[in-house]
Amino acid sequence: MKLRCDYCFEDGRGCGLEKGHRLHHIPTDEVSHIEAHLKSKMVVKPRPFLKWVGGKTLLLPELLKRVPKSWNPNTDLYCELFLGAGALFWELQPKRAVLNDANNELYITWLALEHCFENDMYAALRWLQHNYPKKPEACYYHWRSLRLPEHAIGARAARTIFLNKAGFNGLYRVNKSGQFNVPWGQNPNTNVFDEENLRACAVFLQSIDVRLRDSDFADCLVTEDVNLRGALIYLDPPYIPVSKTSNFTSYTTEGFTYVDQLRLVQYAVWLRDQGAHVILSNAADEVLIESYRRCRFTCDLVSARRSINSKASKRGPIGEYIITGG
Ligand SMILES: C[S@@+](CC[C@H](N)C(=O)[O-])C[C@H]1O[C@@H](n2cnc3c(N)ncnc32)[C@H](O)[C@@H]1O
Repeated sequence: MKLRCDYCFEDGRGCGLEKGHRLHHIPTDEVSHIEAHLKSKMVVKPRPFLKWVGGKTLLLPELLKRVPKSWNPNTDLYCELFLGAGALFWELQPKRAVLNDANNELYITWLALEHCFENDMYAALRWLQHNYPKKPEACYYHWRSLRLPEHAIGARAARTIFLNKAGFNGLYRVNKSGQFNVPWGQNPNTNVFDEENLRACAVFLQSIDVRLRDSDFADCLVTEDVNLRGALIYLDPPYIPVSKTSNFTSYTTEGFTYVDQLRLVQYAVWLRDQGAHVILSNAADEVLIESYRRCRFTCDLVSARRSINSKASKRGPIGEYIITGG
């Protein structure tokens, strides 16, 4: 039987993926065909679906050099305990993973992709894609002020993705009472819904053995029934501010203090003692780095461009450390 998409009148080839094509325009008896088609078109490697501040896309070449040759993404465990947008996770695409981030809204967003909440999420994002360009600033502040019910996972995930895309510079910052307070990014043309990539991310997450968690880094693996021997653990905490004006540490209400940094040193030692390979990135704070050296970690100063400063001229290459052990 010849199948066709009711929207573009094609016989299956090329339908469903083009901008503006909608699965709900397709009669139900053809949906499975279209889904199969979407999956077959999934040559696009899923990539981070958020532009998370502190994201490590630019640091990937340096991080990849330090992934041990013995670690196999098809069989060995991968743990990322400060997940953010998960740049290294998407690059490595491991088949077994524990992914953790203390930011609950971020966790909900990953959860929506991994479970079956994605239809609600896609519907809300489709609505936003259509309505945001009409009144971008008002739309942004309206969605920023929304307090969605706890169980509305799909809508909460859509809100987080939308605020991340339309907000200023991919920042995630909350005030003392935990309310997201990043201003509008002033771009009325932002594409708030990259459907192809979101679907690719969802398909991948649903195809692997993944555990998503939203605890403090130190609690996450302790409660998991996992053998860490041979696992690859990537730790990318909020960086210590390198200057008085770069004090961005408020991804969560609690923030990330110097004491937390020192707890992380101890935790990295514990992970290494369990037989895991540890890779950690952090700002070039020599006092802290010395703590890692004293615990016999290898500390390499590398250079990457960070994009949190609003002035492009001030986003210059800055040194940061990649710390490895085990
Ligand atoms: C630098 S970002 C990680 C960026 C990520 N590597 C990427 O590529 O997008 C740091 C993350 O740590 C999370 N975080 C802050 N405090 C934490 C804690 N105590 N335990 C776990 N995660 C925490 C933040 O919510 C934030 O998403």
